[in-house]
Amino acid sequence: KKIVLVYSGGLDTSVCIPLVREEYGFDHVITVTVDVGQPEEDIRQAEERARRLGAEHYTIDAKQLFVEYFCWPAVRANGDYEGYPLSTSIARPLIALKAVEKARELGATAFGHGCTGKGNDQFRIEYILRTLMPEAEIIAPMREGRRLPDGRREPWTRSEEIDYANAHGLDIPQTKERIWSVDENLWGRSIEGGRLEEPDYAPPEEIFKWTRGPGNCLPTPQTITIEFEQGVPVALDGQRLDPVSLVTTLNRIAGQHGVGRIDIMEDRMLGLKVRENYECPAAVTLLTAHRALEALVCTQGELKFKAMVDREWGELAYKGLWFDPLKEDLEAFIARVQERVNGVVHLRLFQGTASVIGRNSPNALYSADLASFDSKTFDQSESLGIVKTHGLQSRMYFHLRQSGRLT
Ligand code: ARG
Ligand code: SIN
Repeated sequence: KKIVLVYSGGLDTSVCIPLVREEYGFDHVITVTVDVGQPEEDIRQAEERARRLGAEHYTIDAKQLFVEYFCWPAVRANGDYEGYPLSTSIARPLIALKAVEKARELGATAFGHGCTGKGNDQFRIEYILRTLMPEAEIIAPMREGRRLPDGRREPWTRSEEIDYANAHGLDIPQTKERIWSVDENLWGRSIEGGRLEEPDYAPPEEIFKWTRGPGNCLPTPQTITIEFEQGVPVALDGQRLDPVSLVTTLNRIAGQHGVGRIDIMEDRMLGLKVRENYECPAAVTLLTAHRALEALVCTQGELKFKAMVDREWGELAYKGLWFDPLKEDLEAFIARVQERVNGVVHLRLFQGTASVIGRNSPNALYSADLASFDSKTFDQSESLGIVKTHGLQSRMYFHLRQSGRLT
């Protein structure tokens, strides 16, 4: 019996390798690690641990696909959920999709993953697996918990996991496995757990890796220019870059200025509130720039309506419902608007913020001549009649109420 394990190489998924053998009866474990820009050493660690635990391992490079088909649509939709630029959320569908491809190639019809029963990832991953391979069996050993001698189950503790993994060929020191739970891809880094679970505990500098902290940022402001075509970033400072280079370069540049740190209370799909810390330098910078360009080329009505569309899109992306028809419908609207979102945005990066300091587009719905204080083309005397009728109904209401005739 073959099983494809969606594998990060972390402790939870590593424990799953011997577990699916011993407790679920799969003698052939295939581990699939999808590279969406996590650290090189995590990929190496996954390969190494899979080998030691006797799995057939595959690393699949999906960085380019991730940026083009997941991050760029997120930019066009100003992708956001409660202030979080959706980094982990949008990577999960791609990871699951690659696991399905591998399973088909190798003739496996069962999947395992290391998600817990409390989080969002179980929803995102299983949705894709069930959509693309409805007949597949899916097991989630971490969610089911550790089997006790009397047959009951209880959640694993960290130290039990380490003992179990070590009994099967790893050697992880009890103290070593990190206190922070980190998830990292090109679009962002998420840090949770440990003392961060106390909402009132200030995040210590050590949790951050991509962004410099206050007092440690580059001492002088830096101006950058981002060019968009149809709502997609194509160039940085006049230089066209491939999608992956654009994001990695911007993560580095904006990170040096401390841009992209986010500390929020996030409402998970199951209703749990979780304290989350993110660092998303490129995502925050690109989203800021994209919004500024839309503000130049879209009508007020479009902007108001698109904010609602974007919000719905963000929720669907957060839930991982990547093939939802509503998502397609929203994207049809977004695509139509984005046809005109061409141009450049200048930003100043300094001390943790990316401020827009200029924007330019051939499609600007803006006339300097009309808006200017010195304008002679705008006949201001014509405003008089319009001003007189402004708020007509609310003025009537006010007097009705004041005279006590309101019933
Ligand atoms: N809460 C975020 C999400 O649901 C990120 C979770 C990332 N996981 C982690 N172990 N840090 O998308
Ligand atoms: C997990 O609980 O499996 C990770 C966090 C999440 O899915 O939100």
